Amino acid sequence: MVFNDSTSPVCYFCGMELQNTTLGLKLPTDPRWVDLAEIDLAEILTDHAYCEQKAATACISLIQAYPERAELVEALAPIVTEEWGHFRMVLSELKKRDLALGRQRKDEYVNKLLGFQQKGGSRDAALLEKLLTCALIEARSCERFRLLSLHCADESLRGWYHKFMVAEAGHYRLFLDLAEQYFGKEKVWERWQEYLRFEAGVMQELSPRGDRMH
Ligand SMILES: [Fe+2]
Ligand SMILES: [Fe+2]
Repeated sequence: MVFNDSTSPVCYFCGMELQNTTLGLKLPTDPRWVDLAEIDLAEILTDHAYCEQKAATACISLIQAYPERAELVEALAPIVTEEWGHFRMVLSELKKRDLALGRQRKDEYVNKLLGFQQKGGSRDAALLEKLLTCALIEARSCERFRLLSLHCADESLRGWYHKFMVAEAGHYRLFLDLAEQYFGKEKVWERWQEYLRFEAGVMQELSPRGDRMH
């Protein structure tokens, strides 16, 4: 993904500028979600913290499952560090505000995406599903961080969220790059469109909650 200004990402596949729907996502988040998220910062920051932890864990799992994929191992090893750094950034923000990290909650959004993964195929086929799922979660996270960076009432948090938006956009691109490297652009594009359509349905189905990043 490329930023031609601070907020307008460009589609990875076609180079088209994506204004409101970032990264090709089919259903933009209602900006009023930001108002809900701001009601209780401890809640949204707790969910954010675990999103970062899960992102780090997902990269570790991919490395464990596909150690023979040298490019994947090399690309994802530093992302583990980066995502764990994000987790620590959220912890610091909680501490600064004298808020406590809460317990991890059921992640309905991610569970639905996991349910969409094609099962029972080869190990390679599973890799494509995992890479696209990761790319999608990064894309939606990026879109939500963008909204927070633009509309958050607490100005000190806007720049803070902007850093996450940029980082997660890079990860979205990295997962799609890896998928394309291993499975080819055409195959990835086709399956990616199916994921995007499914994800839009999931977003429509889940009621917006201020205590959830997704
Ligand atoms: Fe992150
Ligand atoms: Fe990420």
